[in-house]
Amino acid sequence: MQHVLITGGAGFIGQNLVHAWCKARPDDRLVVVDAMTYAANVRSLEPLITDRRIQFVRGDIGDAALMRRLFDEHHFTRVAHLAAESHVDRSIADPEAFLQTNVLGTFTLLKTALDAWRSSGAIDRARFLHVSTDEVYGSLGPDDPAFTESSPYRPNSPYAASKAASDHLVRAFVATYAMPALITNCSNNYGPYQHPEKLIPLMIIHALEGKPLPVYGDGSNVRDWLHVSDHCGALMSVIERGRIGETYNVGGGNERNNREVVGLICETLDEAFAAHKDLASRFPSCPAASGTGCHSLIGFVTDRPGHDHRYAIDAGKLATELDSRCSVGFESGLRQTVHWYLAHEDWWRDVTSGAYRAWIDKNYGFRIAV
Ligand code: NAD
Ligand code: DAU
Repeated sequence: MQHVLITGGAGFIGQNLVHAWCKARPDDRLVVVDAMTYAANVRSLEPLITDRRIQFVRGDIGDAALMRRLFDEHHFTRVAHLAAESHVDRSIADPEAFLQTNVLGTFTLLKTALDAWRSSGAIDRARFLHVSTDEVYGSLGPDDPAFTESSPYRPNSPYAASKAASDHLVRAFVATYAMPALITNCSNNYGPYQHPEKLIPLMIIHALEGKPLPVYGDGSNVRDWLHVSDHCGALMSVIERGRIGETYNVGGGNERNNREVVGLICETLDEAFAAHKDLASRFPSCPAASGTGCHSLIGFVTDRPGHDHRYAIDAGKLATELDSRCSVGFESGLRQTVHWYLAHEDWWRDVTSGAYRAWIDKNYGFRIAV
């Protein structure tokens, strides 16, 4: 039985990880800490909190006193560190919060964990998993080989630079202080509970509301899509069985360009509306409600500055060393995801109210059709 701290557990991957962890390791004691930024939503965790399967603490990873108190009270032997500012476009508009949380917050958490584990003597059985991104490796050309764990760091956005800095801190803590830490760098996740600022949920929700589908640039940018359930499985393998001090890349093996992804979302919605007649009355503004394809909403807009062209992950080390592989194919995973958003209208309406509208005006207001 482990005492586990999950940071950022009210975010997209965090919520999925908390559920996966409770299912796979019901005897572990989980504490979830989250600052409850705009990106957080605790609704899916409420049944686990009520049943005392997890303990939820609203708090900032940069609050050293709070972090130390949690370590002293709960004697964590596992830390899965996911808390971060995670959206590239927001990092371009307002980078400071990214440095604060992703760099300084990660430093505070690392230092607190190290001090607590040294003083309690738990350092020999403790493990700290730092969850990072493939964006630290920069951008690939169309024919370049996929990123491996030894690809050079070439971050291109303030977000990627802040994650790269946090990875370097983890590496330095391992080398200098023998911190029992591991790093994962993964590709684009998708699935339930993803915040609607990100490509896939944004396009689904805009289509349902009959709003334009804003594809940046010419839509040829490629991402390697990873279903969040596969990512969570990999994280649990790495934290338990990965070698201390090592990095493991996690990827879906599903390279698609943005035009293909948005096109598939449109097709899936058109099919869903044809099969389920009630959808037309629930979402009357969606073109699929009147038999016009959702494709009619696609538009190409001003590109993201510094937009990485392509990410692709070589996940061979994870498969060879830990026998951990992805199982969700992109087409079926995307279909499931579209149906999840259709079935969870309350959730996304809640998340897209208030401050989210101001973000949409800020990020898309200046973009012109290209
Ligand atoms: P998310 O934005 O959905 O969730 C992040 C969570 O962290 C939120 O609940 C937020 O409230 C919390 N948080 C932010 N600042 C905090 C602070 N100072 N203290 C405590 N909590 C704080 O992000 P996500 O998509 O779930 O990503 C989780 C992690 O995985 C991040 O570290 C991200 O860099 C990494 N990652 C994500 C993806 C992806 O495709 N989503 C891919 C690669 C890596
Ligand atoms: O690769 C891992 C990374 O994936 C994570 O580290 C980040 O936290 C996560 O946000 C994601 O970053 P991306 O920038 O790749 O994801 P996003 O969903 O913002 O964009 C995916 C692609 O879609 C990218 O090429 C930009 C494009 N895009 C995005 C939005 C929001 C559009 O064309 N239009 C849009 O409105």
